[in-house]
Amino acid sequence: MTTSQRTWLERYAPQWVIDVEHEDLATSVAEQPQLDLDAIFGRSGPVVVEIGSGHGQTLIAAAEAKPDTNFIGFEVFEASLAITLGQIAEHHRTNIRMVNADAVGGLRHLFTQHSVTELWIFFPDPWPKKRHHKRRLIDPEFVHLAGDTVVLGGTVRLATDWPSYAEAIPEAFATDPRFRLVDTTRFVSRPITKFERRGLEAGRVIHDFTYRTIAEG
Ligand SMILES: C[S@@+](CC[C@H](N)C(=O)[O-])C[C@H]1O[C@@H](n2cnc3c(N)ncnc32)[C@H](O)[C@@H]1O
Repeated sequence: MTTSQRTWLERYAPQWVIDVEHEDLATSVAEQPQLDLDAIFGRSGPVVVEIGSGHGQTLIAAAEAKPDTNFIGFEVFEASLAITLGQIAEHHRTNIRMVNADAVGGLRHLFTQHSVTELWIFFPDPWPKKRHHKRRLIDPEFVHLAGDTVVLGGTVRLATDWPSYAEAIPEAFATDPRFRLVDTTRFVSRPITKFERRGLEAGRVIHDFTYRTIAEG
């Protein structure tokens, strides 16, 4: 980490990074009482969770556009977390909190069932080699967890520039009858990040997916 990144982390983590209990691995989330989101934000409101928020561009843009929504970013990479904290401060955002841990354990242990309004995963690590596909975030188990986490009638938004991941995403969502694919156009609130730019420059097509869960009754 650079000196500035260390400074942002020391200065802002106590305010904006949610303190969660970890298992042996620094990034894994232990079983623990679920988060009291109203207490964390000091208000109630819709909750958007972004997994792998990188440098935070999407979170910052969305949090500025929707000041009444509460945003939580999961980011395992500490330097990216630090950059995001610096950006939150620069943009005077009070409606973003971060978790420095693996989002799968986070979804499993930190949220009560059906408490997240939207879940966003933009450009998840592609693991392009076939023998590494099992490391990918999106698989049927993750989709099931997402279905338990989002509210009924809630939304999951994803984007990828990797053709084989773009095939695997609908296959994984097809395993959970709670989800319907409702849109494949680009999510307008998504700024172009370096990962999207890199994909475009390499001539890859960007695939967006918006899934909605079916409200019961
Ligand atoms: C390819 S980058 C995309 C970042 C950002 N979404 C964007 O579009 O610029 C993927 C990010 O996800 C993070 N990440 C990967 N697996 C994760 C996990 N299980 N939980 C939280 N963050 C994760 C990585 O550290 C990295 O910052």
